[in-house]
Amino acid sequence: MIEIKQLYKSFDKLDVLKGVDLTINDGEILSVIGKSGVGKSVLIKSIINLIEPDAGTIIIDNIDVTGFSEKQFNKIIRPKFSYVFQNGALWDSLTVGGNIDLALQIERRLDEAERKRRIKESLHMVELADIDNVYPDELSGGMLKRASIARAIATQPKYLLYDEPTTGLDPVLATVINTLIKKLNEELGITSIIITHDIAGAKKISNRISMLFEGKIILTCSADELRNQDNEIFNNFISGKVIYNGH
Ligand SMILES: Nc1ncnc2c1ncn2[C@@H]1O[C@H](COP(=O)(O)OP(=O)(O)OP(=O)(O)O)[C@@H](O)[C@H]1O
Ligand SMILES: [Mg+2]
Repeated sequence: MIEIKQLYKSFDKLDVLKGVDLTINDGEILSVIGKSGVGKSVLIKSIINLIEPDAGTIIIDNIDVTGFSEKQFNKIIRPKFSYVFQNGALWDSLTVGGNIDLALQIERRLDEAERKRRIKESLHMVELADIDNVYPDELSGGMLKRASIARAIATQPKYLLYDEPTTGLDPVLATVINTLIKKLNEELGITSIIITHDIAGAKKISNRISMLFEGKIILTCSADELRNQDNEIFNNFISGKVIYNGH
């Protein structure tokens, strides 16, 4: 379980997170929505210590990691996490298998045979068996996304953070990725946090949906409750209404 309490983060004079409270339960898929620039990526980068918050508490599996040094965090907490970046981010100079192997070498001490096994297994999970010797620039956008998800699951994380996994994909491919996220959650038990603009997709696969607005989580509801909210900001956002002056 991840418990985020009163998290604050500013960049110079820009106050991005202004008291975020959010809990992610083991085994669930939680989607975070909110307009561009609101701080969604900053929030998930804070969880894995890529960004240092100014104030607040983050408790991961009952361990308060707030005061952790980078070394402590990397040793005790980082192995529980994988992160699918907003821009995919595979190394072009390495094959897909090479990319996964590199992640395995950085994050785990495994022998070559075990790394080979994990590369095969993770590519199989995302239905990209036999592309381990292919270079990223030979892949379509949807295959690239799946390859970066394969790299993320190869280290067998407890938590997987997806930053806009379906942005830029056509609706069919977006469904393929959403279905894959659900499959990984169900079959491997990976607790997943998804940042997304894809409300329909989020509704289909998430247990809960949270909205970040003006630095705070203003609402969390189950997917079933999505359409029955009386929060005007939330309703305007999910129905795609233009919001002026931040309201
Ligand atoms: N390292 C940084 N240094 C300075 N400002 C930053 C940094 N990271 C993020 N910001 C700023 O914080 C704000 C929130 O950024 P963030 O990337 O979290 O937005 P987002 O909600 O993920 O948007 P999008 O949906 O477009 O990805 C933006 O104004 C951004 O410019
Ligand atoms: Mg972002």
